[in-house]
Amino acid sequence: MTDRKATLTIDGLDETLELPVYEGTLGPAVVDVGNLVSSGVFTYDPGFTSTASCESAITYIDGGKGVLLHRGYPIEQLAEHSHYLEVCYLLLHGELPNAEQSENFESIIRNHTMVNDQVNTFFRGFRRDAHPMAIMCGVVGALSAFYHDATDISDLEHRVISAHRLVAKMPTLAAMTYKYTKGQPFMYPRNDLDYAENFLYMMFGNPCEEYKVSPVLARAMDRIFLLHADHEQNASTSTVRLAGSTGANPFACISAGIAALWGPSHGGANEAVLSMLSRIGDESRIEEFVARAKDKDDPFRLMGFGHRVYKNFDPRATVLKEAADEVLQELGMENDPLLRIARRLEKIALEDSYFIERKLYPNVDFYSGIILKAIGIPTSMFTVIFALGRTIGWIVHWNEMISNSYRIGRPRQLYIGHKQRDYVKMEDRSTTNA
Ligand code: CMC
Repeated sequence: MTDRKATLTIDGLDETLELPVYEGTLGPAVVDVGNLVSSGVFTYDPGFTSTASCESAITYIDGGKGVLLHRGYPIEQLAEHSHYLEVCYLLLHGELPNAEQSENFESIIRNHTMVNDQVNTFFRGFRRDAHPMAIMCGVVGALSAFYHDATDISDLEHRVISAHRLVAKMPTLAAMTYKYTKGQPFMYPRNDLDYAENFLYMMFGNPCEEYKVSPVLARAMDRIFLLHADHEQNASTSTVRLAGSTGANPFACISAGIAALWGPSHGGANEAVLSMLSRIGDESRIEEFVARAKDKDDPFRLMGFGHRVYKNFDPRATVLKEAADEVLQELGMENDPLLRIARRLEKIALEDSYFIERKLYPNVDFYSGIILKAIGIPTSMFTVIFALGRTIGWIVHWNEMISNSYRIGRPRQLYIGHKQRDYVKMEDRSTTNA
């Protein structure tokens, strides 16, 4: 907090309003407009481009400089030296764990990987061709029906248990979703494997033969989880906070986050990238699709390009671009036709003035889609993988909100509908009424 004030004069209002200005540790200061309502005005910011919805000490982004910090640590350093579960601990507890804390945390997560056996039955209510994200919204929300023992949100211990359960069970549920849509038996988790290895094992293993997890693919998978772990107040995290502000239980809130993530402007973009590459189909058609993306009258956009916050580059994309090169080389897939289209598209878009002027760079979804395809993850599972990685971010933001003083989130509006009017009886209504 500082002594700085913002002064606001509004035509038609006699008084000059003095608004407090707060400084964070990094980034823009904020003007507290919370009391404006007493002067009879609201602020107006659809899309929340200039609105800070909360205080938070978890993640910092400087979109202009391409900076992403988790609890102060740059994402590039975490991607190089850390691993997903350590980043989960860091996000949840605020500090990197020492050796003992790390071992305890990983052991807790390992010991919560199984889901209640009744959940298996729950899956069977879905059609086999259901979209995996539709199943995930349902089964994650349904966890609240299984874990009554720890859903007192005012109890910190309960909140932490829920965080552990969610982080531990998401890979199991995600893999079950895949297996269900394939008509294959569910694979129980193997607690001798690490987090990413276990996920790949549950996805691609089967009870009839031994499945050996490739260390290169497990490392790539772990990096994808890590790079998706948190991203400040994005649409799905804000959804989780808003749902949580009503006092709803954590599983219901995370399910709301999964639903928000599904949209193609958010997490659904990684799936949309691959669908777009398939639609392009051949390198000779790239120019045609780039022209469509630039055409104001055509709703088509280049999926995997652009970001609301990053207007320079997406630091997660830089790490994933390297990882994509490693994985493709390891798998000998440099010449895969779709991946070649992706590479050409990236080059053309990066050199095109339309994309340069609007600061539209490949984002995290562009490269994660390429890696996931190379690993053999089906396109419809891409957003599920994003949800799996982001679960820690959602639950940590939810926990931060509940730990501090919070009020139910309740935005207002600029009303542009009819003024008050009297009810018209049926016989008095015109037949041409719209
Ligand atoms: N292809 C073509 N034009 C684009 C694109 C694109 N992918 N993205 C933005 N533009 C244009 C847009 O038409 C507008 O042009 P103009 O100024 O001439 O009207 C300008 O760039 C600014 O776009 P905007 O829609 O105002 O930007 P926004 O901040 O509201 O939207 C976005 C950000 C990510 C939704 C958008 O860039 C987009 O739809 N990208 C494709 C979807 C995608 O890859 N999403 C994943 C985001 S990263 C992962 C995550 O956080 O979930």
